[in-house]
Amino acid sequence: MSGHGTPIPMTSRKCGPLTGVANVPGDKSISHRSLILGALSVGKTEISGLLLGEDVLDTAKAMRAFGATVTDHGEGNWTVEGVGVGGFAEPEDVIDCGNSGTGVRLIMGCMATSPISATFTGDASLRSRPMGRVTDPLALFGAKSYGREGGRLPLTIVGAANPVPVTYTTPVPSAQVKSAVLLAGLNAPGQTVVIEKEATRDHTERMLAGFGAEITVEDTDEGRKITLTGQPELKAQTIVVPRDPSSAAFPVCAAIIAEGSDVLVPNIGLNDTRAGLFTTLREMGADLEYENMREEGGEPVADLRAKYSPNLKGIEVPPARAASMIDEYPVLSVVAAFAEGDTVMKGVKELRVKESDRIDAMAKGLRAAGVEVDEGDDWWIVKGRGFGNVPGGATVESRLDHRIAMSFMVMGMATEKPMSVDDGSPIATSFPIFEPLMAELGAAVSRSNQ
Ligand code: S3P
Repeated sequence: MSGHGTPIPMTSRKCGPLTGVANVPGDKSISHRSLILGALSVGKTEISGLLLGEDVLDTAKAMRAFGATVTDHGEGNWTVEGVGVGGFAEPEDVIDCGNSGTGVRLIMGCMATSPISATFTGDASLRSRPMGRVTDPLALFGAKSYGREGGRLPLTIVGAANPVPVTYTTPVPSAQVKSAVLLAGLNAPGQTVVIEKEATRDHTERMLAGFGAEITVEDTDEGRKITLTGQPELKAQTIVVPRDPSSAAFPVCAAIIAEGSDVLVPNIGLNDTRAGLFTTLREMGADLEYENMREEGGEPVADLRAKYSPNLKGIEVPPARAASMIDEYPVLSVVAAFAEGDTVMKGVKELRVKESDRIDAMAKGLRAAGVEVDEGDDWWIVKGRGFGNVPGGATVESRLDHRIAMSFMVMGMATEKPMSVDDGSPIATSFPIFEPLMAELGAAVSRSNQ
């Protein structure tokens, strides 16, 4: 779990060209789901390429606590012997999901329709995040929850002994909420329906189908309608976890802003529900090519080649694209600082309830580094200063948020003076090899506060 140990101050200095190949770790969303769906299946699921980040390791521990046999065979190879849908045992102790909103929300979903109770907690960041968005729909199945004020963790869920199926329209664009409802629907009789007005990442739907659930997806006037037939027997699968586009974002953006760079980031999924950042960077004029475009496991995949891009322009990012790049706005705002003109980001209220309030965290750090930022409740504008004109020289609070820490480390690779963060330890939640990977490309990131 991050944020409970000694803080790790980190500093990033202007570097020469970044060059070489960046093999980023496995996808965090798919890693969580592989462990959870493996635990809900009958038989032995074999997983390769699992992300060894703290968030995912906390989910592995949780699946053991609910009765699955989860084994680490080394180098990202894991097996999960599941207990089947409805087979979860009551955990003997509190489930600690560390920093992971995805972990806790999905796990709450999959235990809420079994006749067991579980108490969930996490680090200070996770304990401050809203859980009502998940416990409200879980109550419709018959589950009860007892949390702190505002539905915050620690929180106990008493699962429904006789769950009923639910039809639910998600009030916020959130794959975590959608997934929690679908996972709860697995152990309810009949059909559970989730309608989302804007499409969010669809890994849960795709993977449920892969594990043998009956699930359909239709585009309707109300939005994307997902219908799941409850009480299937999920069958163990072999899963190759693809590399994470949200982690790829960091070496890609670093290469775009660090003079002379040319970096290849192989095997990145370009699923429409995840690839919004790369489209946006190209619209800004970034030299970002998709090489070796292919299909793998039914998903579009490419090797990304990112080069230093001295002629970036600020753009207005279409709000309809927000869900497909929701985790990438922090690092986009760093690239925007080096562009000419304003980068306008609207329809992004969800950024305020991530691991930190990401608009506030980035705006404060960017301003401290000499970049003007305007913000409102659900929008922000970064006023680009152009290359060679971004001062830097600030120490920023990372607020237990891996993406805030990595974004400012990327920024320091091209600012005039170094950039520091007070604590880089949260990086281990999603990208434990960030420092050696960036060092190998030629970055100058060190563990010090100047
Ligand atoms: C995730 C969904 C997103 C995203 C998070 C991973 C997932 O959260 O920010 O990093 O794996 O379902 P929301 O569902 O809150 O948008």
